[in-house]
Amino acid sequence: MQTRTFQTTEAKALNILLVEDNPVEQKMLETIFTANRGGSRNHVTSAETLAAALEQRGRPLAFDLILLDLNLPDSEGFHTFESIQSAFPETAIVVLTGTRDENIAMETLRCGAQDYWGKGSLEPKLLVRVCRYAVERKRIEIELKHANEQLKRHEEALLETLESLKKSNEDLRATRLQLIQAAKLEVVGRLAAGIAHEVKNPLAMIRMGVDYFFKYIPAGEKTGRFMLESMSEAVGRADMVIKEMLDFSSQQALVIQPEALAPLVERALFFVKHEFDKRQTHFEMQMQENLPLAFVDKTRMEQVLINLMTNALQAQQSGGTIHLKTSFLELQPGILPVGNRRGDPFVPGDKVIRLDIEDEGPGIPADVLGKIFDPFFTTKRAEGGTGLGLSVVKNIIEMHGGFLCIRNRSEGGVCATVLLKPAEAARGAA
Ligand SMILES: Nc1ncnc2c1ncn2[C@@H]1O[C@H](COP(=O)(O)OP(=O)(O)OP(=O)(O)O)[C@@H](O)[C@H]1O
Ligand SMILES: [Mg+2]
Repeated sequence: MQTRTFQTTEAKALNILLVEDNPVEQKMLETIFTANRGGSRNHVTSAETLAAALEQRGRPLAFDLILLDLNLPDSEGFHTFESIQSAFPETAIVVLTGTRDENIAMETLRCGAQDYWGKGSLEPKLLVRVCRYAVERKRIEIELKHANEQLKRHEEALLETLESLKKSNEDLRATRLQLIQAAKLEVVGRLAAGIAHEVKNPLAMIRMGVDYFFKYIPAGEKTGRFMLESMSEAVGRADMVIKEMLDFSSQQALVIQPEALAPLVERALFFVKHEFDKRQTHFEMQMQENLPLAFVDKTRMEQVLINLMTNALQAQQSGGTIHLKTSFLELQPGILPVGNRRGDPFVPGDKVIRLDIEDEGPGIPADVLGKIFDPFFTTKRAEGGTGLGLSVVKNIIEMHGGFLCIRNRSEGGVCATVLLKPAEAARGAA
């Protein structure tokens, strides 16, 4: 192994690794570069074997060019090229060929060598030029490769940004909907309170009048009695709407204390029991043992349960089973649509009391799903629905710092999920 320094007439000095075992050819090649005196200095390192060439890996100064004889004492043909190429991937390679390895030289070109040079050729100037071009081509190839890699990195970063933009957009849309909903609720609440107070007294007068006439109308006066009964029913219904509107808009402070959920469910069930019997619908309750107490307003929470059970019953029409389940769990990301937006009452990792009411009804059509929390939205107008049930429920749950989600189940029917803070956590946060 020897290292010599030559000068060429070319502007830029090259750092060359000459891999050639034949001393005569090695000398001749060195002379070719020596002949180009007067320019900048080329640095040539010679290696007679593949092993000696591979030892040059990781030198502080990288080679610009490798002049490579394929047939060496320790390696033959294409294998020599492969070994050198994988050891020096960023260096231009010009293969030196004898007459018998022309085909292999062509193969090396296809696999990334920059050029090949027939050893018999006696045109040293041309060889130097071939080498310069080879170095230049490799430099452009490497630059292109790096530019491509950088482009790929930029593209990946852009895709990531796009993804997070998409997510922010979804969050924004959801938050906007929540804001619109909240604003609507507030306006409707104020309106409802005003209307309810105005209408309450006239209604009381009508009720008194109806009761009065009932007393004096003769028993045989069938049409008159029927009219009065219908009026009484209508007044009753108007009264109920007013009560719901007042509940809905009630700014009354909650009377919150630690409560066991099971007795609340039992009481709510008591109010709707006759409906279950009438519709021959079963009710199945799965309460998790040792469920922590929830921090709730008893009466309001009963109202929530009655509304959700009634919706489930009405959806089911008749027969079937409505399931109510409770559990205490740590919230996992992505299972419920809660915890990924600013302002959500819970985040993954929070311990929550979960209550699910599942029905076997037809589910909620996609075009209806977005409106179910709108005050006065109902698809049951003919059956006497006011469309206030779910907005009242949502309002109450939010006043408790809880979370409500109504979704279609993949098995069919609807699942209404309520998340509540366990009493201990709520007290800790207070
Ligand atoms: N379990 C359910 N299955 C199918 N649709 C439902 C269910 N729960 C609610 N909905 C839909 O949401 C709408 C709004 O429900 P909400 O409880 O607010 O009003 P309502 O039940 O129509 O009347 P009310 O004020 O008397 O409760 C319903 O009219 C119905 O279309
Ligand atoms: Mg309802």
